[in-house]
Amino acid sequence: MHKMLLELPDRLETERLIIRPYQAGDGSAYYRLAQNNKAHLLPFEEGNPALAIQTEKDAEILMREFHAEWVCRNVFFVGGWEKATGTLVVQLVISVTHWDWRQFEIGYFVDKDHEGQGFVSEGVRAMLYFAFECLGAQRVSAGCNDTNVRSQHVIERSGFTREAHIRQSRCHIRCEDGTFSGDYHYGMLRAEYDRLPKPELVCQP
Ligand SMILES: CC(C)(COP(=O)(O)OP(=O)(O)OC[C@H]1O[C@@H](n2cnc3c(N)ncnc32)[C@H](O)[C@@H]1OP(=O)(O)O)[C@@H](O)C(=O)NCCC(=O)NCCS
Repeated sequence: MHKMLLELPDRLETERLIIRPYQAGDGSAYYRLAQNNKAHLLPFEEGNPALAIQTEKDAEILMREFHAEWVCRNVFFVGGWEKATGTLVVQLVISVTHWDWRQFEIGYFVDKDHEGQGFVSEGVRAMLYFAFECLGAQRVSAGCNDTNVRSQHVIERSGFTREAHIRQSRCHIRCEDGTFSGDYHYGMLRAEYDRLPKPELVCQP
């Protein structure tokens, strides 16, 4: 099916999160998230658009750009809002590696004050549902630096298989012994997703 004909949900609801595409008006929440997390993001997310946000207006522009990209099915940025507080606590993204072959990649970060509470893993399970059930993914990949232990845990807890270790390829992130770090590459195939326990979520058309 052509990507523009796909019927995509407006939001996914997990136990603790409302996950939805960004929209006009989200700028102030995103500005707070970006301001709170610059140092948190710098080591492993040097290209993250949140790092470029200087003002609430910048954030509002980015929200509208993310929305436009969602509508065109170019890249799927979503915010995960904690149900209990209405706070934007996690960002997740599904980017397109190859549309015709239905191959995608997942990325994420969590607000530093909400780290270590399982919000990312909860969001990743929902976005795997989105990729495989709504986009028809055949393969979803994920990657992280080999010193990013928290991210490795998220990916492995979510059921991905480690497929490659690109060694000592990152000169800007050093291991404790001073050597260059590298990257782990992971993948999940449709058949592997099908064998996972399905997340409890509400999917709103
Ligand atoms: C990488 C990153 C997203 C991981 O976030 P995280 O908070 O550790 O991940 P989760 O939300 O899944 O939380 C998992 C932790 O919460 C704990 N936890 C607490 N309550 C939980 C619950 N209800 N359900 C699941 N886990 C829970 C888990 O035990 C786990 O702890 P552990 O890693 O010590 O075993 C975060 O560190 C981050 O944003 N880093 C900066 C940006 C970055 O590195 N992005 C990824 C680049 S590849």
